[in-house]
Amino acid sequence: MIDKGFPCSKAKGLEEASAGMTCFGYRLVPREEKGRLVQRHFDRVASRYDFMNTLLSFGLHHLWKRRAVMSAGIQPGFRVLDACGGTGDLSLLAVKALQGTGQVVLYDINRSMMNVGRRKLQRRCRGVRVSFLQGDVQSVSLREESVDAVLVGFGVRNVTDMERGFREFHRVLRPGGRLMCLEFSRPTASWFGWLYDLYSFTLMPLAGQLFVGSRQAYTYLPESIRLFPSPERLAELLREIGFVRVTFQRLTNGIAVIHLGTKAQPE
Ligand SMILES: C[S@@+](CC[C@H](N)C(=O)[O-])C[C@H]1O[C@@H](n2cnc3c(N)ncnc32)[C@H](O)[C@@H]1O
Repeated sequence: MIDKGFPCSKAKGLEEASAGMTCFGYRLVPREEKGRLVQRHFDRVASRYDFMNTLLSFGLHHLWKRRAVMSAGIQPGFRVLDACGGTGDLSLLAVKALQGTGQVVLYDINRSMMNVGRRKLQRRCRGVRVSFLQGDVQSVSLREESVDAVLVGFGVRNVTDMERGFREFHRVLRPGGRLMCLEFSRPTASWFGWLYDLYSFTLMPLAGQLFVGSRQAYTYLPESIRLFPSPERLAELLREIGFVRVTFQRLTNGIAVIHLGTKAQPE
């Protein structure tokens, strides 16, 4: 089911893509092309993004996001970065956790996604300041050690150089600050994995065709999930970058995973 003969479906993750090339779903593309394809993808889905998330996850994404933001240890007064913040679900939960004092910076490369987020947050936020910054997480335009917590939900999968993004999150975090990364992964039970493959390679693209007018947009989603590193490998990468107390928790048989890491305090 997974192997459709494209080069990326044969690679065991992005590390195996050829030099100068990377994976956009199962397509092997020049590295500089991936950013453009990701932009086009989110331009296409932005207006229906929230609806499709709720439909395709049967509403579960709300529970995962709530659990994820609760585990990030946000305290009133914190400055929180919602990286790859998109339509702002994690920002909204961070605003609630801040209890009226502090700041949220929603940082995203795609204007259409942020515009949906801006409308949603304007309607529902009181007290806490929310700023919208358009930019690439591979080079975050914030000062070193200027935020207390970094949240990234379903975002890093789309970033050409994910490691560079994580290094940036480490740079902008203050010592003792926490990173929370919520991402899709593979189910742990094989029977569930089989059903999940069937669902994601048949019904997901069909729903994309029906509701967004693009089958391809919702083929990219399951393909990019299959290529994402395992939770163990991602935890290892976070430790290599310098995060300490790295843990992960699987949700719904491993379909989604929360990773936590802390920036070490100086000795
Ligand atoms: C799947 S959406 C997730 C949105 C939101 N965090 C959520 O949980 O619903 C991924 C977001 O990552 C953004 N993104 C992708 N590559 C990015 C990059 N290099 N820098 C910043 N944002 C990026 C996209 O524009 C999109 O809004």
